[in-house]
Amino acid sequence: MTYEFPPSFLWGAATAAYQIEGAWNEDGKGESIWDRFSHTPGKITDGDTGDIACDHYHRFQDDVSLMRSLGLKAYRFSTSWPRVLPGGRGPVNLPGLDFYDRLVDSLLAVNIEPFLTLYHWDLPQALQDEGGWENRTTCYAFADYAALMVKRLGDRVKYWTTFNEPGVVAFDGNLYGQHAPGNKDPKIAYQIVHNLLVAHGLAVQAIRAINSNLQVGIVLDIWNQEPASDAPEDVAVAEQAWQNYQTIFLHPLFRGHYHAAAYAAAGENMPKIQDGDLARIAQKLDYLGINNYSRILYNAQGQVAPVPGSEYTEMGWEVCAPALRRLLNRINQEYRLPPIYITENGAAFKDEVGPNGKIHDARRLDYLKQHFIQVHHAMQDGVDVRGYFVWSLLDNFEWAHGFSKRFGIVRVDYETQERIVKDSGEWYSRVIKSNCVEE
Ligand code: FCB
Repeated sequence: MTYEFPPSFLWGAATAAYQIEGAWNEDGKGESIWDRFSHTPGKITDGDTGDIACDHYHRFQDDVSLMRSLGLKAYRFSTSWPRVLPGGRGPVNLPGLDFYDRLVDSLLAVNIEPFLTLYHWDLPQALQDEGGWENRTTCYAFADYAALMVKRLGDRVKYWTTFNEPGVVAFDGNLYGQHAPGNKDPKIAYQIVHNLLVAHGLAVQAIRAINSNLQVGIVLDIWNQEPASDAPEDVAVAEQAWQNYQTIFLHPLFRGHYHAAAYAAAGENMPKIQDGDLARIAQKLDYLGINNYSRILYNAQGQVAPVPGSEYTEMGWEVCAPALRRLLNRINQEYRLPPIYITENGAAFKDEVGPNGKIHDARRLDYLKQHFIQVHHAMQDGVDVRGYFVWSLLDNFEWAHGFSKRFGIVRVDYETQERIVKDSGEWYSRVIKSNCVEE
């Protein structure tokens, strides 16, 4: 069976600044909350840090050549706020801004569409010292940072994402404490949910005021929450879980108000909302990015894990590609959405380098293939999906797991910084070239 994609389908790969750049304190870059967090003993597996990571800051030209050899049509990356504004606001660090300028020019020179994310979790530590996202002034600083970037790169970068996974920022960073800044406080976490949404709205307004021709969107982490059976008790638990978590962002962004279930879930931690905030948040968007890796299954007792008979990745995430199709159909029916990009999807598996230096990552290749096919099915069902970005181009710093989890379609030898294209990368390259997936 052959699944053909539309000619304009944007095939890409994704990364994030802190996970690949390294050069954490070079050329005037300020400290980020991830520098501070990874330098704090006990926070990251094996004490790893992003100090060097994939050394992309120094090797970006080679990495762009690699992307070109793979035939990528687009590259999703993030800019580091403290690299361009070391204090979060105030004096601009020109060498930092120049770095992104050169990166964008290198991409365009080989016809790769830059798909830029303004915030992939590395808040300037200077702003954290004033309360970070809990403090509403950070929202205004973010809009100013967005404006600065658009003034410099908006003539060449067409796709602008405000936030990557605001839910993970709010909850993993401020309720569960596994991510920077490491808070464990529901009141702070819920206020941050709201402040991130306000910051998003302000940034969209700031971007459009400078250049009304850009494509502006946000990226949400959305995993379908599914019942283990048709039994009403299972369905009710899955539905409740969906409403408590997923609607927190989808509702204000696309319906202009919070869902009643989200208020109930927040309870006494309900954030302070100022007049006009809901209108500020619900800006018209040009696309919605979806990061999807798995699903969560529920029965009447709660989450079912592990799911009997299912395959799991190294992250402990169930492999269930059909759930992606169901998810896309669901949100497409429930909300009036702009076009969708799958902005992240991929899998961590243990890779072994064969005697010939090759990495035969058959499970990752199969994971990608299954998900491409399900995206194709969803498009046939009527969901407007415009592109797909593999997470990730390179093995990289996987947050609290450090370098222990490899998601790349390209292997990185962290001792030598050598890049080796895995079988999945070679296969992906053929998919892009033919614009077809063969089953
Ligand atoms: C997502 C993050 C990305 C990466 C993948 C595995 O939640 O956006 O940076 O860590 O998970």
